[in-house]
Amino acid sequence: MINTTNKVDLSTYNTFGIKATAKELIACHTVESIKEALHYLRENPQPYFILGGGSNILFCNDFDGLIIHPQLSTIELIKEDESHVWIEVGAGVEWDVFIEHCVNNKWYGLENLSYIPGNVGASPVQNIGAYGVEAKDCIETVKGFYIENAEAFELSNADCHFAYRQSIFKSELKNKIIISSVVYKLNKTESYTLDYGPVKEEVEKKGVISLKNVRQTIIGIRKSKLPEPEELGNAGSFFKNPIIEVDHFLQLQNQFESIPNYPIDSKHIKVPAGWLIEQTGWKGKAIGDAAVHNKQALVLVNKGNASGQDILNLAQQIIEDVKKKFGISIEPEVNIL
Ligand code: EPU
Repeated sequence: MINTTNKVDLSTYNTFGIKATAKELIACHTVESIKEALHYLRENPQPYFILGGGSNILFCNDFDGLIIHPQLSTIELIKEDESHVWIEVGAGVEWDVFIEHCVNNKWYGLENLSYIPGNVGASPVQNIGAYGVEAKDCIETVKGFYIENAEAFELSNADCHFAYRQSIFKSELKNKIIISSVVYKLNKTESYTLDYGPVKEEVEKKGVISLKNVRQTIIGIRKSKLPEPEELGNAGSFFKNPIIEVDHFLQLQNQFESIPNYPIDSKHIKVPAGWLIEQTGWKGKAIGDAAVHNKQALVLVNKGNASGQDILNLAQQIIEDVKKKFGISIEPEVNIL
């Protein structure tokens, strides 16, 4: 029997801590209950939304529909050879619980993604990434169900069309599927990615380069820049780092010599939105309770009682100012509902 909860307070379901309600919510702990929830939705047609850990969402209004909340929580070793393990992880497993499990078992590959908030089910959707590693580097397959007919799907890494903060789940399959589990392929042999910014130097300060030391270093860097959602509501980076044409970049570099940049290919360069926003003077500024974090301008925060609209208004002003100063349109990374 499916359990629906009515008129749900969503403030504990989103790391921004925004007060909003949903008409009903179904938490799914098993694959069977996902199918039942989809059946319920067919019988009771209404707007729906699949909500994971709520760490990348901004609720701008109450939601007059059904929220399906996958909570499958198993971590299973499904295959192993001399050099790799294949781990199937339920969509509802907290991402950092999974990473800690990997580090404890000496499985290499995802340690740079330590301490990212959210659940495993969201990891392929926006291809989470940090410190030179992206989820796609270790994803083998993504499993789930089509919402329309409750049929199962299993997509290979190539099928997922991964790119920077992008996948098929944000394009062709947006709002059409529900992810139940992700299979990650991890290394049993020692290998690290330490070439992003100060990571290598900081790990070496801890003595040996080891999985535990890499994890602790990443956690330290994140804690020094990014606010803890329990203390200050936020959804990590609010904007994506824009990718611009080389010609545009060269013009900007004439004017702003120190503009940081990461070449993508011969024609494109990625520019950190945090730097662009800081240059417009917004870092640490607020409109009411909606604010720009004072240590990382890419992160918008709720100082207490900001509404989703307040955060959105602040974001819009920032977008306009960045456009005016640099001619670059920055886009939200966070889902706006
Ligand atoms: N910068 C500034 N001012 C700021 C923030 C950044 O000048 O207020 C400059 C930094 O000095 C540096 C550059 O921007 O030169 C990059 O900064 P940082 O290393 O902090 O990374 P980011 O590009 O701002 C991205 C991800 C983060 C991820 C870090 C580390 C996106 C949208 N964000 O941020 O991901 O942790 O790299 O890899 O790509 C997230 O997605 O929620 C997230 C936190």
